[in-house]
Amino acid sequence: MSTNQRPTLRELAVQALSSVEHGYDLLAPKFDATPFRTPERILDEVVRTLGPLGPFRAGLDICCGTGAGTRALGEVCQERVVGVDFSAGMLDVARGTQAKAHWVRADARALPFVAAFDLAVSFGAFGHFLPKERPGLFAQVHSVLRPGGVFAFPVGAPPHPGSWPYWAMLGFDAAMRVRNTVWWPRFVMYYRTFPLTEVRPELERAGFAVELLPLEGLGRRRRDGRPRAALLVARKEA
Ligand SMILES: C[S@@+](CC[C@H](N)C(=O)[O-])C[C@H]1O[C@@H](n2cnc3c(N)ncnc32)[C@H](O)[C@@H]1O
Repeated sequence: MSTNQRPTLRELAVQALSSVEHGYDLLAPKFDATPFRTPERILDEVVRTLGPLGPFRAGLDICCGTGAGTRALGEVCQERVVGVDFSAGMLDVARGTQAKAHWVRADARALPFVAAFDLAVSFGAFGHFLPKERPGLFAQVHSVLRPGGVFAFPVGAPPHPGSWPYWAMLGFDAAMRVRNTVWWPRFVMYYRTFPLTEVRPELERAGFAVELLPLEGLGRRRRDGRPRAALLVARKEA
């Protein structure tokens, strides 16, 4: 069951002192009222950009949480839509949102599927994976896609060094490193561990052809005119 109430600071603190999986179990009933749920305008823009790349029959939302991206996936997939997440609490909330989707509890680092999907997406979850886990994660995604299948996710333009978001992300990551040095279980969540300069060649090594499509509807940065966000489209070689 979900509620529109935001989590209190105390609840967020308790969540952050748990493991990732248990932390999301605790946060699940209030997750949709937090800024961590991917906003609809991003999802709509992704749907608009994915449309011409189809048709897609079966789709997989990796780290689906309460199902925000799964709903979007349903708009571009003609047949089956599956959301996978390791938090039972998040999946309980997701179940109440969409009758059409199937929900599977599993770790994204060990996906329990054969190559049955034409499209895999993921929103807002890559900060939960350490850089050394990425090649394994990308290999898993590759293995569940049919030949020619697409793995797509939005990426934001990195903040300018010295800007407020730049310092905020740096500070958050530094605080998490300290927390993970002194406290167990670890809560892996970092903002600055997913640079495209590393991610792109890793995807290519996993067997994907990679391109970046600007998400024009999300606007351009005033400072340098670059798109604020792009959709990374990684296609499994046929
Ligand atoms: C910030 S939430 C994003 C949820 C949703 N995709 C959205 O955009 O609203 C991150 C989700 O990733 C899930 N997650 C993190 N690590 C995972 C893993 N190794 N396997 C499966 N799910 C994972 C968490 O349980 C959580 O539901």
